[in-house]
Amino acid sequence: MDTTARREHWLRAIAAAADPAALAAIDTRLFGPKGEVPEFVRSVTALPKDERPAFGKAANAVKVEVEQALAARREQFAAAALAQELAGSAFDPTEPGPRAARGTLHPITIVQNELVDLFTSMGFRWEDGPEVESEYFNFDALNIPGDHPARESQDTFWCKAQPGLGRNLLRTHTSPVQVRTMQRLTRQGFHAPLKVVVPGRCFRSETVDKTHEHTFYQMEGLVVDRDVSTANLIHTMKTCLRVILERDVQVRLRPGFFPFVEPGFELDVNCPFCSGRGCSVCKQSGWIEILPCGMVHPNVLRQGGIDPEAYTGFAFGMGLQRVVMLRYGIDDIRQFMGGDLRFLRQFPEVAR
Ligand code: PHE
Repeated sequence: MDTTARREHWLRAIAAAADPAALAAIDTRLFGPKGEVPEFVRSVTALPKDERPAFGKAANAVKVEVEQALAARREQFAAAALAQELAGSAFDPTEPGPRAARGTLHPITIVQNELVDLFTSMGFRWEDGPEVESEYFNFDALNIPGDHPARESQDTFWCKAQPGLGRNLLRTHTSPVQVRTMQRLTRQGFHAPLKVVVPGRCFRSETVDKTHEHTFYQMEGLVVDRDVSTANLIHTMKTCLRVILERDVQVRLRPGFFPFVEPGFELDVNCPFCSGRGCSVCKQSGWIEILPCGMVHPNVLRQGGIDPEAYTGFAFGMGLQRVVMLRYGIDDIRQFMGGDLRFLRQFPEVAR
């Protein structure tokens, strides 16, 4: 048989295979041990020399073509088998899969994001600091002397002391980032104004109840510039509370003591639940204590490498949970970390 006749013969056999088993038998006959195809290709050696190149080329082309025809027929059988299987079952591969449930943002995250957006729009930058902090940044640099009651073990989670290194602790507030930021900016050549916010997690060894958590969130604010005054502080705080509580607010300042501010204040907002008339939330006073703040103490500016004769500043430390509780009317701080999905799912799904 010549090349053309062989080709026809083999291709016809492949096309005629009725099922995968018949096709497999043909495969063995053509390509298995003593297979017809390789034998045919090898028959080139029996030809006179001048006929070999032309025959070799043609025989190889037929071999490739037959291989492809086998593979194509195999695919046909596989596709037919799959179609048959699908036709007999209720499975519809074109149906969309089940929709994965999307989570919701934690209410603290919602309010924190809003606050950061607001403060960045007012020219503040977002700063970060470590949760495991040194005694120096958490206390000493903030003008909190060694015998201050805040250092006592009932308030502070101390880390195991490492020989040669100072003592570490879980930061009890976000204020240590004040001095960290000032020191870093002074090293880089300080240019006023400095305006930063520092959202972050803080820890205190407290007995947990309706209004106290051992792990809580604060947002620190710090502004340092020439001629910064209490009026700037009040204006900034009012703007921030108006946006977050979504209504006009009145504020008042009472003296408050924090070693790192002088003067220090407790800023109160008129009660959002009774508009200042007096209710159980504000304990009939009409006011809610919302954030401690004050003018940065000269010693703290000095620790940051900034000259207190030339610059002044204000700082505030907002308790984020407190703001969230006022905003959504939540009366138990333990809800935030309680992991109850029924609580968490009440907050809007926000894509950011
Ligand atoms: N760091 C203080 C606290 O956690 C709050 C504070 C911050 C007070 C900034 C004044 C200025 O209690």
